Amino acid sequence: MYDLSGPQGLVRPDYRAARKKQRAFCVWFTGLSGAGKSTLAVHVEQFLHNQGRHTFILDGDHVRAGLCRDLSFSEADRRENIRRVAEVARLMVDAGLIVLVSFISPFRRDRDAARALFPAGSFYEVFVETPLAECERRDVKQLYAKARQGLIPQFTGIDSPYEAPISPELRIDTSELSINESVVQIICAIGT
Ligand SMILES: Nc1ncnc2c1ncn2[C@@H]1O[C@H](COP(=O)(O)OP(=O)(O)OP(=O)(O)O)[C@@H](O)[C@H]1O
Ligand SMILES: [Mg+2]
Repeated sequence: MYDLSGPQGLVRPDYRAARKKQRAFCVWFTGLSGAGKSTLAVHVEQFLHNQGRHTFILDGDHVRAGLCRDLSFSEADRRENIRRVAEVARLMVDAGLIVLVSFISPFRRDRDAARALFPAGSFYEVFVETPLAECERRDVKQLYAKARQGLIPQFTGIDSPYEAPISPELRIDTSELSINESVVQIICAIGT
């Protein structure tokens, strides 16, 4: 049987990144719903793309509609959701891409397991630490209102825990920084 954990042919992952004239890595955005993960991923991607980088975004809403459409929001399925996304992100990094991942990813052990899949120095955890009150004020998807009415059980920050990162590579509070200021901080942190 073909061993996917081992060498995959004669073209090494770093050769693929070198062909794209870049370093391949994963930027993992975590934080509450409405914190600004997707917004920042989109703007960071645009910045990198304009610089000639090869990028891809894995976003919770899209992945849940396809790759993980069989999964619910139970704790076990949320964990499986993150496990799959981390594996896909790792494959994309091996393909030489800069991958931007934007999922609530509320559980610390799942984010740590994701980090463990990547070579040292190629995983950047960005904690989008916008306070719950601000996320709820924005209520972009009207999910907080529904959760407060009891219509969405186990909603992160309301009746399901969010475990904050202990030592992320970067913290961004979008109630204090503009989108552009946040992008600058992220670009400085990833050093590209
Ligand atoms: N400085 C800022 N940075 C990012 N987003 C901001 C900022 N100020 C206001 N916003 C707004 O906050 C909202 C953040 O929503 P976004 O969909 O990015 O959150 P999310 O973390 O991806 O949530 P979800 O987990 O539900 O997908 C957007 O409407 C965005 O325009
Ligand atoms: Mg989002």
